[in-house]
Amino acid sequence: MHAFTLDPSLDPEDFYRELLSAADALTADEPDGIANMANLAALIWQLVPDLNWAGFYRRIGEELVLGPFCGKPACIRIPLGRGVCGTAAATATTQVVPDVHAFPGHIACDAESRSELVVPILKGVEVVAVLDLDSPLLSRFNEEDQAGFEKLASLAATRI
Ligand code: SME
Repeated sequence: MHAFTLDPSLDPEDFYRELLSAADALTADEPDGIANMANLAALIWQLVPDLNWAGFYRRIGEELVLGPFCGKPACIRIPLGRGVCGTAAATATTQVVPDVHAFPGHIACDAESRSELVVPILKGVEVVAVLDLDSPLLSRFNEEDQAGFEKLASLAATRI
């Protein structure tokens, strides 16, 4: 087991630098993408506060298919363009949703979720997966979280 710890009182830039460094160390020597997604989901779950779901959907054809995650069992297949994840994948843009109830077409996998951040993972111009984070708090994710997780998604693109 890997015991990573992070001081949640770090300023956001340092927090995400350390998270990225832990993610790098955890995945650097492993070529299997599923194993790396599983460990990245567990790392985020362990270190990032106020989440009720953290994990990956993989793009397979015209759908997103559930990948490794931490949290409650979730919907398995999401058509591209549907929900927050499908929108991130179809548009190749990060979706920051302060209130999921106000997002048209939001797919409620866990009724506790109040806000959501979904970052597309690109290999070249192709979206190969999305990283999905849900929080039970309204407006949990700000621009610093978006920037931090976009860096993590860039790293993940080279490891999955
Ligand atoms: N809420 C997401 C679905 C995935 S779950 O949150 C794990 C969406 O609207 O795409």
